Amino acid sequence: MQTLTVELGDRAYPIHIGPGLLDRADLVLPHLVQKRAVIVTNTTVGPLYLERFATTLRNAGVQVDSVVLPDGEVYKNWETLNLIFDGLLTQRAERKTTLIALGGGVIGDLTGFAAACYQRGMPFIQIPTTLLAQVDSSVGGKTGINHPLGKNMIGAFYQPQLVLADTETLNTLPARELSAGLAEVIKYGLIRDLPFLEWLETHMDALMARDTTALTYAIHRSCENKAEVVAADERESGQRALLNLGHTFGHAIETGMGYGNWLHGEGVSAGTMLAADLSRRLGMISNDDVDRIAALFQRAGLPVIAPDLGYDAYMDYMGVDKKVEAGRIRFVLFKKVGDAYVTGEYDPNALRTTLTEAVGKA
Ligand code: NAD
Ligand code: GLY
Repeated sequence: MQTLTVELGDRAYPIHIGPGLLDRADLVLPHLVQKRAVIVTNTTVGPLYLERFATTLRNAGVQVDSVVLPDGEVYKNWETLNLIFDGLLTQRAERKTTLIALGGGVIGDLTGFAAACYQRGMPFIQIPTTLLAQVDSSVGGKTGINHPLGKNMIGAFYQPQLVLADTETLNTLPARELSAGLAEVIKYGLIRDLPFLEWLETHMDALMARDTTALTYAIHRSCENKAEVVAADERESGQRALLNLGHTFGHAIETGMGYGNWLHGEGVSAGTMLAADLSRRLGMISNDDVDRIAALFQRAGLPVIAPDLGYDAYMDYMGVDKKVEAGRIRFVLFKKVGDAYVTGEYDPNALRTTLTEAVGKA
């Protein structure tokens, strides 16, 4: 097992990464305020891992209840959030009961937001079971839900007490979901860690083959990057926005195509290619750089052509992005491969060309 810390002063917390952690009550117990927990999961992850993890806790004397939600991005909304509150109230959960997210990013984001709201805040723990959640969404305290008009538009910053990433859970992950997680892994290399990008270029086949050593290294290095950025800029007043590479375009794709049709990581991949195209048009990176980025996403089984939603639709969806300032859409663009920046200064004609010429058929 490897352990990292997200350094947030008195709210610092550990990220444990390794095999078999669902059986490790000793890692969880120090973080429970009372010996009581409610596990939130879904109809896919529940049958795979709920009983095993609940038994781990029960054998350690913890009273465990659960809430099982429907599965899918389309359920990351108010109605589903309310099902968590229904469960908490029915089970008479208290303010010091710990809420535990067992699942991917959708469960993590919903559960974290519920924890932030229930009785104005209860402790929570992230047990991420997708690659995407293990490398990104479980770390850093962004929680929330979608609105029909915009992705992740309602939410709160609310840090977990602990992140427990059991790498063995990735054995049951569908191939498409593994690829979606790799989009966020590649992101860290592209925005701030060129040596990691080069490592990914060398080890992509091993990652796609689910080589345990390669996956564990990629998770650890991704979490290191994320923990550093979050510790420096928890509330995204500066460099944390870099973690949104490809996300402004990607969220528009996810919303425009209907939640769940394009996976988050797929939107990030195709969205990053739009960011690369725009950066090239602005003279920041070369054609070869764009091809290099596309090649890595393709080897990770990810789409590199964004759907043609139409210029106006893209602009509408991107207009509700959280990086918008004074009505201006801001993008994460490339200074060079391995180094990104956030800017609202770009030629709008170049953006129009990207959104009309670098997209494919929806
Ligand atoms: P997801 O939560 O929908 O999980 C993907 C699918 O895999 C689901 O069907 C899920 O039930 C299933 N699954 C989960 N674990 C499994 C396992 N071990 N075996 C088999 N199936 C399993 O999707 P995701 O990619 O994990 O997360 C995407 C969400 O995360 C998006 O809503 C995105 O906005 C959010 N996100 C949040 C942050 C953040 O900082 N909070 C960062 C990135 C993404
Ligand atoms: N996934 C973007 C962030 O956590 O800031």
